[in-house]
Amino acid sequence: MTIEVRLALLGCGAVARFHLDAIKAHVPLVRVTACIDSDDARASAYAHQTGGTAFTSLDDAISADAFDAISILLPPDLHEATALKCLAAGKHVMLEKPMAPTLEASTRILDAALASGRVFMLAENAQYWPEVVATLNLIRQGEIGDLVTGRAAFISEYNPYWFTGQTWRLSQARTGGGITIDGGSHWVRPMRMWFGNISRVVGVVGYPMEEMQGDSLMRSLLQFESGIYASYDGLMVNTPLGPQESWRVTGTDGEIVIGGFPESGVTLYNRKHRGGLALDGNWGYAMSFVGENQDFVNAILDGAPLAAGPEDSLQELRVAHAIYRSAASGSWENV
Ligand SMILES: NC(=O)c1ccc[n+]([C@@H]2O[C@H](COP(=O)([O-])OP(=O)(O)OC[C@H]3O[C@@H](n4cnc5c(N)ncnc54)[C@H](O)[C@@H]3O)[C@@H](O)[C@H]2O)c1
Repeated sequence: MTIEVRLALLGCGAVARFHLDAIKAHVPLVRVTACIDSDDARASAYAHQTGGTAFTSLDDAISADAFDAISILLPPDLHEATALKCLAAGKHVMLEKPMAPTLEASTRILDAALASGRVFMLAENAQYWPEVVATLNLIRQGEIGDLVTGRAAFISEYNPYWFTGQTWRLSQARTGGGITIDGGSHWVRPMRMWFGNISRVVGVVGYPMEEMQGDSLMRSLLQFESGIYASYDGLMVNTPLGPQESWRVTGTDGEIVIGGFPESGVTLYNRKHRGGLALDGNWGYAMSFVGENQDFVNAILDGAPLAAGPEDSLQELRVAHAIYRSAASGSWENV
């Protein structure tokens, strides 16, 4: 019987830091046994921190039988080939968002995952973001009454912290677009958790950030299957920006506001708390990687269902592509 998960990290770059910190601090029954990166120094540094073995190629790590499950933390254009290879080798796979640059490639990954019988998880950490989960709980408790509308703002200064040494994010071919397909997914998932699935969108895109080939500006309206409308904006520019909340969720009896990224916090406004009640919580984006990794481990060891299955996780990509289609057609587009 498996008592712990032997995990490989494929890609020891920016997001790997969040995964590893979360695992080391909070996720038991998982041991990082392989650290794979084409950059030898990165693989070795992570191997040193985990006690795992460093590899510069996925093939070598598979041949060495160095892991049972893998977190694929590579740029999106490398997702399909590596996910298919790992699934064919019988590994459980957690794959960072977006699933792939195109819906066609994502469908091929999903088909292979289904046929493999292994755990396949699309890593959308916003599903476990404490502020997002707390907001869902407030909605379910009826604190703001029936939902009326929402507003999501993925607004960010071009941040060297995320981009150190990276060029792939700036390439339309490598991501499949720009900010809407990339970081935007983390703003769409929460909206889906609160309001349900999105049926159609209308939007425009722009290109104010010279460095980025794809969109760095996006304004859109989302219509949910319930009929509710919400606005969804994205902006990344190479200039300082004023503070801005990430979301507002408005109901018949009040409103919930989630502050700016990443240490956002949650404030509830209703008749009992007209001036706003700032909730206490273990807030922060980094905490979302704990729940995400725990969910993956539970699914492998106990067969527990994932909070969001892989087919469900394709919706963020469908929304992004629908916004791109709408920007081209000038019309509402179905998701
Ligand atoms: N969930 C989040 O909040 C979040 C945040 C950042 C990135 N991401 C996603 O994570 C993925 C990785 O992003 P990142 O920011 O960590 O990228 P990154 O460029 O910082 O890291 C990627 C790593 O992969 C290595 N690499 C590249 N090609 C390789 C290959 N063929 N074989 C082995 N190693 C290879 C690079 O050397 C680098 O160390 C992307 O899909 C991105 O969208 C998610």
